[in-house]
Amino acid sequence: MKESTSGGRFERAISVAERLSSDTAFDRIYDDEIRAHSKEHWTPVAVAARAADLLTSSGATRILDVGAGAGKFCIVGALTTGAEFVGVERRAGLIRVARETAATLGATRATFVHANIDSFSFAGFDGVYLYNPFYEQISKHTDLIDQDIERTGAAHRFFVRAVEERLRAHPSPVAVVTFNGFGGLMPRDYQFMGDEPAGNDRLELWTKLEPQCR
Ligand SMILES: C[S@@+](CC[C@H](N)C(=O)[O-])C[C@H]1O[C@@H](n2cnc3c(N)ncnc32)[C@H](O)[C@@H]1O
Repeated sequence: MKESTSGGRFERAISVAERLSSDTAFDRIYDDEIRAHSKEHWTPVAVAARAADLLTSSGATRILDVGAGAGKFCIVGALTTGAEFVGVERRAGLIRVARETAATLGATRATFVHANIDSFSFAGFDGVYLYNPFYEQISKHTDLIDQDIERTGAAHRFFVRAVEERLRAHPSPVAVVTFNGFGGLMPRDYQFMGDEPAGNDRLELWTKLEPQCR
């Protein structure tokens, strides 16, 4: 049996298809610490694939994941659709994990940028994915990824508003999918296209159409 050292441990080399077959199979690529956060912080495989499908079916070809974590959404999206995925993440350690995981799985269309979202431009993206990225800053129940971020209502509002402003200023066409919302309101010129049950919550699809289409 062929062995690999993904996630810093020995495990049987499994195909990408097997890896995408369940969260247990996917998360085995991560080490124990990263895997322990999966249930609460990383998008489940089936939800990520469906969110990526909703975005690409709406015309998105270059998709931004706001708060990419360990890269799970971008990697699953790149392996299941033809779009490009860029994940922005403020935690340097998670960026390293996301890049290593994408390389191990051959997800060449998933790339990762170490940045805080308030200093990152949404220019050039026609799809945006939001898995409630700032919730950790206000939740009393969530397990914390680390102790390094400010946990106040003011900090949460600051980042939510930064996203609202970027979406408001963003040129059309653009599609947005949320999972567990994002803590803010979609700007008025975005149209709600529908929602559906997914994982522990719902996926919502919003689009901002070309002015002549409205
Ligand atoms: C709920 S996790 C989602 C991870 C990933 N999108 C996924 O679906 O698997 C939210 C992530 O957003 C990151 N994050 C929170 N605030 C951020 C900010 N201001 N800029 C960039 N990343 C941020 C957190 O570090 C965390 O990894």
